[in-house]
Amino acid sequence: MVNFETDPCSFSDITKIRTKSIHFDWNVDFSLKQVRGSAELTCDVLEESLCAFILDTRELDVQKVLIDGKKMKFSFGEAGQNGKTEALGKPLIIDLPDEPPRKGEDLIVKIFYNTTEKCSALQWLNKEQTAGGKHPYMFSQCEAIHARSLFPCQDSPGVKFRYTAKVSVAASLVALMSANLQDEKTERTDIINRFYFSQNIPISSYLVAIACGKLESRKIGPRSRVWSEKELVEKAAFEFSQTEEFIMTGESLLGPYVWGKYDILVLPPSFPYGGMENPCLTFVSPALLAGDKSLAYVVAHEIAHSWTGNLVTNVNWEHFWLNEGHTRFVERKIVEKIYDKPTAELLAIIGWTGKVHSFMVKVVFFDFNKEHDYTKLVIQNDGFVDPDESFSRIPYEKGFALLYHLQSLLGVSKFEAYIEKFSYGALDTQEWKDFLFEHFSASEKDNAILNTVDWDGWFNGTGMPPVPKPQFDTSLQDVCTALAKKWRAGYATPSANDISSFNSAQLKEFLDQLVADSSFSPDQIQQMSVIYKRISESQNSEVRFRWIRLGLQSRFKPAIDDAFAMFTEQVN
Ligand code: BES
Ligand code: ZN
Repeated sequence: MVNFETDPCSFSDITKIRTKSIHFDWNVDFSLKQVRGSAELTCDVLEESLCAFILDTRELDVQKVLIDGKKMKFSFGEAGQNGKTEALGKPLIIDLPDEPPRKGEDLIVKIFYNTTEKCSALQWLNKEQTAGGKHPYMFSQCEAIHARSLFPCQDSPGVKFRYTAKVSVAASLVALMSANLQDEKTERTDIINRFYFSQNIPISSYLVAIACGKLESRKIGPRSRVWSEKELVEKAAFEFSQTEEFIMTGESLLGPYVWGKYDILVLPPSFPYGGMENPCLTFVSPALLAGDKSLAYVVAHEIAHSWTGNLVTNVNWEHFWLNEGHTRFVERKIVEKIYDKPTAELLAIIGWTGKVHSFMVKVVFFDFNKEHDYTKLVIQNDGFVDPDESFSRIPYEKGFALLYHLQSLLGVSKFEAYIEKFSYGALDTQEWKDFLFEHFSASEKDNAILNTVDWDGWFNGTGMPPVPKPQFDTSLQDVCTALAKKWRAGYATPSANDISSFNSAQLKEFLDQLVADSSFSPDQIQQMSVIYKRISESQNSEVRFRWIRLGLQSRFKPAIDDAFAMFTEQVN
C-alpha cells in the first residue's frame, strides 16, 4: 500500500484531510501581474479531533481564511523547514474551529489571497512578447510542484479533486482553463469578461491550468479546437489536423476518452516545455509548428496522458516514471499505428541511445554520470530536491525500456486492465508491480517469466537498464548510418536524393551521427546546406538546432546567424 503519510514534496497530511473539490474565484489583473480572489476547498475529514489543516503555498499573499463563514487564525511555517528545499514553499497552517468537523463530515475552507510576482507557476508577458503585439498574455505551468504558488492546496498528485472556476479578465481577452467552459454562463461587459469553467473529473493539483490572452480558435476535429493568437491559428490548425486520429488510436489502446473535449493551446515561445497535458486543453510550444506535422507526435504524447498520468497518476514525484514511461510507451504505439513500425522503432532506438539533447536535461543521459541517483527509475527524494532539478528524459526512456522489455517477454501489452483498475486514483511503483503479478497470475509460465525480471536493478539501479539493448528494427537507422559514413569518408557525389525518403526522425538521427563526429570542414557543411535543403531549410526545431550545432561545430559561419535567429525566435 502507498504510504500516504507523506508526499516528500508536500507539507500537507493527506491521511487526515483530503480535498475533494475546489471553487476558484479569480481576477486576472495584468496591471499588478496578480491573480486575485479566493479558493474554496471542500474536503473529506478522515480523522476525529483535528486542530489544524496544513496546506502547501509558495509566495502567496493570504488575506483571510473562512470556515463556515467565520474568520480563522492562520500562520505560515518556515521556507526550507526541516532542511527541505525552498522550492516546497511554506506550509499554511489553518486553525480549525473548537468544534472541528467530525470524521465523515465535509470541511469547507475559503481562502482569500493573491499571487505575487514570485509566483513560479505563472508567466506574465507584456504585449511586446506576444505574436500580435497588442495585448498582454499570461499562462500557468503547475507540474511538478508549482500549483502551490497559484492557489493554496494539498499539492500532491495523490490528492484528486474536481474544480469549478469563475475567472474575470479585461474585456479584450479570453481566459482558458484545463476544464470545460460553461459557455452559457459567459458574461461580457465593456470592461470585463467573465468565464465559468468546470472540471468534473477529479484531477491532481498539477493539472490545474489557466491561460489568458487575445486568443482565437479553429475547429480541428469533432471534439477539438486549436487555440492561439490569430497570427498562428491557421498554421496550428494545419499542424495538428491529426488530433482526432490520435485520440481514436488512444481509445483503441486504452479505452474511452472520458474528458469531453480535447483542445490544444499554442502558447508564446517562452512556454517552457514541448507540451503539457493539461486536461481538456493541452498546452504546446509554438516550436512544434514545423509546417509539415513532423512534431505532431508531441500531441500524441499529450493525448496519451489522458489515460496514463491524468486518469492513472503517480502518487508522488518519486514515481514520475509511471506517468512518463507509460505515456512514452503509448505515444510510440500511436506513432506505430498512424505512421509505421520502423519509425516507432527508430524513435525507440534514439531514446535508448539517449541522444536526447533537450536543454532541460541537466543530468545527461545514460552514457554519462552512470552513477548518478537521478538515473534511477524510482527516485528517492525526501523533499530535499526540487523535482525540476531531478527532471530528465530518464523516467521516459528507462520507463519505456522496462515496458518494452516486459512486452517482449509476455507478448503484446494489454493496458485496459491497468487503466480500469487505477483510473481516478494514484499509485506507486510497488502497487504497479503487484498489479502486474496479479494480472498474470493465472498463467504459471507468465509468472515464472515475471520472476526472472531483475526488479531491483530496474527500479533502483543507476545507469543503463539491467538488460542488453533490445533487438529493435534498425532499417531506418541503417540508411542514416551508411550516409553519415560516406560523409565522414569525404563523400564526393552527394545529391538531394540521399535524404529524399528520410522522415524527420531519420534527419535527426543522421545529424546526431554527424554531430557526434566533429571533423567536418566549413566547405563540407556549405555543400550540405546547398544540396540537403530539406535539412538546411527545415522549420522542424529538432532538426534545425541539430543542423546549427553541426554548423557551429564545423566553423561554418552562416550557422552563427542561424543560431541567433533561432535563439531570438524561441526566447522572445
Ligand atoms: N508532463 C510533461 C511535461 C512536464 C514534465 C512538465 C515534468 C513539468 C514537469 C509532458 O507530457 C512532456 O513529457 N512533454 C515533453 C514532450 C514529449 C513528447 C516527451 C516535452 O515537453 O519535452
Ligand atoms: Zn509527458
